[in-house]
Amino acid sequence: METRSSRARKGIVLAGGKGTRLYPLTMAGSKQLLPVYDKPMIYYPLSLLMLAGMREILIISDPVELPRYRELLGDGARFGVSFSYEEQKAPRGLAEALILGRDFLAGSPSCLVLGDNFLYGHDLARFLAEAALEKEGATIFGYRVANPREYGVLELDANGAVTGLEEKPAYPRSNFAVPGLYFYDEQAPELAAGIQASARGELEITDLNRAYMKQGRLKARLLSRGTAWLDMGSFDGLLEAATFVRTIQQRQGLKIACLEEIAFLKKWITQGELEGSLVKMGRNDYSDYLEHLISGRE
Ligand code: G1P
Repeated sequence: METRSSRARKGIVLAGGKGTRLYPLTMAGSKQLLPVYDKPMIYYPLSLLMLAGMREILIISDPVELPRYRELLGDGARFGVSFSYEEQKAPRGLAEALILGRDFLAGSPSCLVLGDNFLYGHDLARFLAEAALEKEGATIFGYRVANPREYGVLELDANGAVTGLEEKPAYPRSNFAVPGLYFYDEQAPELAAGIQASARGELEITDLNRAYMKQGRLKARLLSRGTAWLDMGSFDGLLEAATFVRTIQQRQGLKIACLEEIAFLKKWITQGELEGSLVKMGRNDYSDYLEHLISGRE
């Protein structure tokens, strides 16, 4: 019989919310489908799950937008993964993703990523793959920001252990914000179901993380200063992320969050499958890049 801990970790991308911070950009469309230089925003958080080794991924969005994600991403075969889809009928908070994902997870550990979070940096893939291997409890991250009031904020003791966690505090206890990327063991749906809605009427992800903290089962790992964490949910963040992607890509000739490339390098898709995607895409800079990837290997 399969043991609990042997189950593969599954990914969840939450692409919900009304995106009011980006009105009028998002009045007639989902924030996480907006372009960030040469890819739709959701490609960036998806790439994190894939880099961490997850091949079964649930995409959650509101009922109106969900069909558009299906149209964009399909069943996932062209990226060597399997996508499932679930509706979030109203924006009832980030922690609801674990409740909506209960059937999909079916007792597996998970990784939740918010659809507007951008993370990039040296060693990040290794860092994520390590977190994915944890068998017990929850792992969250800390990232130094100048404006911690806008985020979940960590309080750490001298040994780096988490001693407190607050959502958008007026008086932050540190400059370490918690990015929207969370690794949970199989108990997350049950713990999320026990959370009470906050004053803003939402099931806060910080309260789920606190539940793990109270049980002494929350780890926080600090991302190094060479890491870029950008919030693509504001006008400036959106432009900054696009410029960042363009700068790195043009300098190195390597793409960030090219899902076909990640799948190909991980051997999740064959060269023939990649060539099939290229034919469907037609000629453009993106498909030229993938073609070079193939010819470089021959
Ligand atoms: C959410 C979380 C917050 C986290 C942030 C990361 O905030 O509630 O703890 O730091 O995402 O992007 P939101 O910006 O959705 O209000």
